[in-house]
Amino acid sequence: MEKLQGKTCLVTGASSGLGLATTELFAENGATVVMVCRNKDKAHTAVEGIRHRNPTASVSLELCDFSSLDSLRSFISIFTNNHTCLDILCNNAAAMKPVYTETGDGLEYMLQTNYLAPFILTQSFLHLLKRSQDPRVINITLPPEKLRLDLSDLQCRRSFNTMQSFYKTKLALLLHSLELADSLTGNDVSIICADPGPGPFDSGLVRDMPAPIRFFKKLISGKVDKAAANILFYATHSFLRKETIFKGTNPQQRIPYWNDRQVRDELRQKTDELLADLIS
Ligand SMILES: NC(=O)c1ccc[n+]([C@@H]2O[C@H](COP(=O)([O-])OP(=O)(O)OC[C@H]3O[C@@H](n4cnc5c(N)ncnc54)[C@H](OP(=O)(O)O)[C@@H]3O)[C@@H](O)[C@H]2O)c1
Repeated sequence: MEKLQGKTCLVTGASSGLGLATTELFAENGATVVMVCRNKDKAHTAVEGIRHRNPTASVSLELCDFSSLDSLRSFISIFTNNHTCLDILCNNAAAMKPVYTETGDGLEYMLQTNYLAPFILTQSFLHLLKRSQDPRVINITLPPEKLRLDLSDLQCRRSFNTMQSFYKTKLALLLHSLELADSLTGNDVSIICADPGPGPFDSGLVRDMPAPIRFFKKLISGKVDKAAANILFYATHSFLRKETIFKGTNPQQRIPYWNDRQVRDELRQKTDELLADLIS
């Protein structure tokens, strides 16, 4: 039986890597998938490829660049005008920048793309998710347990380090997700945070990094299919709790820092401050 028959799923970063593989698998399982992509040409190639391999796939395309809040606003408006319900929101898109880079909105690029964009999308689509019978938000994020945020320098302006700063955006998304999960009453929306792994998989994530890093990443990477299969698992498995953290298919315990109310409150406050002047 098709596991996602009749469901509407939104997958961000669907033009390549994990997002593309997840879109294909969701469509194979009967879902109607809205692919959110940044690059028009790559997106069209991805859609053509999917339709060639699976002529009955129900996929549509929306263009959105998360490094532009205008683009994000416009996509949210289009999506909410065209949909009355959303079953699965898969916040998959992410960027990795080798050097400190600012978006046109004046925010650090990875923070805006990897944290603020999924934060805004989730908040904006919560009312659509709540109309689903089994709504789920799947955030691709599982930062190293030892990592801590510097809440006085969320944008890493004082100290930028590609990997640390990248994972800090993932940590911010995790903390926000747990805060949201705890604030939702009842079992209305499942919030899932996961590193789908197992281990690194081949994708375009390090495309902007120096050649030796790209070479090494390729060397240690497995295929993306297993990670996509795990995302299908998060989308379809019956959970006992409304919020779950996974590494692969293994549930993970929250460490105390992820539950720290003061940290989560301060992150929310800083996030609101960052967006206050930019979001109408
Ligand atoms: N690869 C791994 O080993 C690994 C391991 C664990 C977790 N992950 C996570 O898996 C997720 C998918 O990454 P991937 O490895 O599949 O890499 P990927 O192939 O580079 O996919 C990332 C996607 O995000 C999109 N994206 C980047 N910047 C964007 C922006 N400003 N606005 C909108 N979309 C944007 C990319 O679009 P373009 O195609 O236009 O660039 C691409 O479709 C990420 O969250 C990553 O952290 C990856």
